[in-house]
Amino acid sequence: MSNIITIDGPSGAGKSTIARLTALRLGLSYLDTGAMYRAVTLHCMRKGVRLDDPKAVAGTLADLDLRVELTLEGPMRVFLGAEEVTEKIRTPEVTRNIHYVADVMQVRNLLVEQQRKIGEQGDLVTEGRDQGTLVFPRASLKIYMFATPEVRARRRHAELKQRGIDSSYEEVLEDVSKRDYLDMGRELGGLRKALDAVEIDTSSMSPDEVAEAIVKLAKARLKMQTRKIDKSALEKAREEIERRKQGQ
Ligand code: DC
Repeated sequence: MSNIITIDGPSGAGKSTIARLTALRLGLSYLDTGAMYRAVTLHCMRKGVRLDDPKAVAGTLADLDLRVELTLEGPMRVFLGAEEVTEKIRTPEVTRNIHYVADVMQVRNLLVEQQRKIGEQGDLVTEGRDQGTLVFPRASLKIYMFATPEVRARRRHAELKQRGIDSSYEEVLEDVSKRDYLDMGRELGGLRKALDAVEIDTSSMSPDEVAEAIVKLAKARLKMQTRKIDKSALEKAREEIERRKQGQ
């Protein structure tokens, strides 16, 4: 059986950055399940169906051709048919609409099945909301990371300010709380901590410190080895992660 490391938690806790850094350091592939929900959302938006109609959303799945390509060094690549949509799924419009799509049972069942198939192919760091609870209940190591809504809102507010986007801290905090509410309230695949997950509060930790803590756990529990990583690969990953945040 493959060694699966699951990382779940609310948005803004730093999951993507940390999952990516952890995967790089352990020499594992990285599965970004949020990107899969984003891709289905883009597909539905392009189809022009009413997103608040679950039947209409489910109806678009018949001609969904979603494919992801895991890479060791780079980010996960996402394709709809022959078209690469890795960057196109990271717009504010997609982010705003995801919750309609992520609530649809048929969408979740389809993506969970795809994620499990990917897990059968080899060792993996996978990141999302339901990875340790629903998708990989027998994962080798489960992490649940969180930070207070205030810390997550402060981080997000600083990011937006850096990009010249004017918004108040209160607005951002409200947005963070709304996403928490939607993610936690989801009946199937909602955000929950698995009973056997290790909790990490990232409020006062840097992404590198958190990745380091997970790598230590993986080495101790799974007897995994860290691999020598090219500094430039790590730098490139950090730059890409920063660029990606700018789009959302
Ligand atoms: O991680 P992210 O921000 O890219 O995820 C986008 C949305 O997708 C998130 O608000 C909830 C949904 N999602 C989900 O329902 N289940 C997952 N395993 C991953 C993401």
